[in-house]
Amino acid sequence: MTQPALLFVCLGNICRSPLAEAAFRHEAARAGLMAAADSAGTGNWHVGHPPDSRALAEAARHGIDISGLRARQVRADDFHAFTHILALDRQNLADLRLIAPPTATARLSLLLDHVDGRAGQSVADPYFGDESGFAETWRDVSLAAAALVRKLAD
Ligand code: 4NP
Repeated sequence: MTQPALLFVCLGNICRSPLAEAAFRHEAARAGLMAAADSAGTGNWHVGHPPDSRALAEAARHGIDISGLRARQVRADDFHAFTHILALDRQNLADLRLIAPPTATARLSLLLDHVDGRAGQSVADPYFGDESGFAETWRDVSLAAAALVRKLAD
C-alpha cells in the first residue's frame, strides 16, 4: 500500500490548516503511523508567512512548535501528490472541487466528516475572533486527527 499523504486545506493557511497538520503529525507519531502531512490555503494573501501568532500559541500550549511552517497556496499537482485532501470548511471544499484537475487522484473530503456526529460541519474560522476560537479549532482538528489516524492505521 502507498504511504498515506494528507494535505489539510483552509483559506489562508495560517490558522486552521497548520493546526490540523500539527495535530495529525502528533497523533500519527504517537500511533507509529508512517504518513506524510502538509497544509495549504485556497487563498494567496499569506503565502510565505508563518502561522498566525494565536495559532503558534495554541500549538505551543500542546507542546508543538509550528513556527517553521510557511503558508502556501494549493496547486494543481497537489491533487496527484497527496492521497487525501482534507478541507477545513465547506467553502474550502467547494473551492477545491472547482480547481481539482479532472485527472485528480487524491480523495477529497471535509475534515469533520471523519468525526462521528460532526459530518457536514465546518471548522469555524478563528481569524477574526479572539483566542478562544483557537482553542476550539484545536479541539476540532485534534478529534479529526485522531479519527484519521485510526482509519489509516486499520
Ligand atoms: P485560516 O484563517 O483560513 O484558518 O488560515 C484565515 C486566515 C486569513 C484570512 C481568513 C482566514 N484572511 O482573510 O486573511
